[in-house]
Amino acid sequence: MAQVFNRRTNTIVRLGIFVGVPVILALLTATWWYYTRSDWVRDVGVAHAKVQPAGNIPGAGGYSHQLHVGGLKLDCRYCHTGVEISSNANIPPTETCMGCHAQILPKSTKLEYIRNSYEKDEPVQWNKVNDLPKFVYFNHSIHVAKGVGCSTCHGNIASMAVVYKTEALYMSWCLNCHRAPEKFLRPQSEIFNTAWTPPADQIAQGLKLKKDLNIRTSSQLTNCSICHR
Ligand code: HEC
Ligand code: HEC
Ligand code: HEC
Ligand code: HEC
Ligand code: HEC
Repeated sequence: MAQVFNRRTNTIVRLGIFVGVPVILALLTATWWYYTRSDWVRDVGVAHAKVQPAGNIPGAGGYSHQLHVGGLKLDCRYCHTGVEISSNANIPPTETCMGCHAQILPKSTKLEYIRNSYEKDEPVQWNKVNDLPKFVYFNHSIHVAKGVGCSTCHGNIASMAVVYKTEALYMSWCLNCHRAPEKFLRPQSEIFNTAWTPPADQIAQGLKLKKDLNIRTSSQLTNCSICHR
């Protein structure tokens, strides 16, 4: 009887097992690596107009930072009242909007959802854009007090019609700064300036700020218990 498989086929099968299997494993590992670390998976740079309640109302523009911060130059703290004093920055209640919009554009259809919310006393359910898992402790006030500006973590909000994430918020991102904050620190006067860019001698300036602001050492700031309490 003739051989069904000749020696050549054998070699091909062996090659298949010794080369093919590792290649497949490497591809799977690479895919996993990508999925657990990529920006794309976490919607970085993607503006989710649809997911905000205002965006669901036909014809409504929704709330825009570009208009209110870029255009009208409102200070972040006008609405995000907690940012200097607590862990949570706060999303403003309807009353904050109505403080102006009771008089400004009181008939605009784009503001119907805000007027409805006010009249029915039902808060607008804004969806979170930046959302850390519950087992991570984060605190706005300490960052703002220690030379870390909004735009380092949130990008140029003043230019965004719809807020999007500029960072994927992986643990490695937090640690990257906690290991060497001098790369990112800025003077207190620039904390809310969303268009701030680092000077040419950032490291020298940053090291000086680090000393002046009494910032702890990198080994203290990378201690697990700082963020996982
Ligand atoms: C007039 C009020 C107002 C002002 C002023 C304002 N914001 Fe906001 N901000 C909001 C509202 C309302 C939301 C929730 C809707 C949204 O995501 O756009 C929000 C959302 C955000 C978010 C996303 C929150 C999340 O879910 O992750 C960030 C970041 C933010 N603001 C940063 C800033 C910064 C930085 C400034 C100043 C440069 C600023 N805001 C000024 C009203 C304001
Ligand atoms: C300090 C005053 C002030 C506050 C507070 C404020 N706005 Fe405005 N808003 C304005 C002004 C001024 C305009 C632009 C008016 C114009 O285009 O003539 C505007 C425009 C808008 C528009 C566009 C309306 C249209 O018909 O084009 C929307 C939507 C809006 N605001 C939503 C909000 C929401 C939501 C909040 C609260 C998170 C808010 N605003 C807080 C002053 C304010
Ligand atoms: C060191 C990085 C960092 C800085 C600096 C920072 N933020 Fe945030 N911000 C975050 C993270 C992370 C979250 C998500 C927090 C969570 O889900 O618990 C967030 C969430 C928010 C939210 C949603 C409400 C909340 O507290 O969860 C707003 C609004 C906001 N930031 C505004 C600001 C403003 C305004 C500034 C500047 C004054 C600022 N942030 C500075 C990292 C930062
Ligand atoms: C761009 C720099 C930067 C980034 C990004 C950053 N941090 Fe920080 N963080 C700091 C600095 C500076 C301090 C102040 C340290 C000090 O005072 O010694 C700090 C302090 C803290 C503290 C307070 C520690 C304490 O004991 O009071 C916590 C908690 C914290 N960061 C969590 C986070 C988390 C979680 C992230 C990521 C989601 C993050 N940080 C991202 C710079 C940063
Ligand atoms: C500066 C803040 C910070 C410090 C310090 C820190 N973590 Fe994390 N950790 C985070 C954040 C933010 C996440 C959430 C990451 C995400 O959503 O992908 C996280 C997630 C995790 C997870 C879940 C798995 C993962 O990677 O998402 C584990 C496990 C973990 N941390 C362990 C540790 C250990 C062990 C240490 C000390 C060596 C440590 N962390 C120090 C911020 C921190």
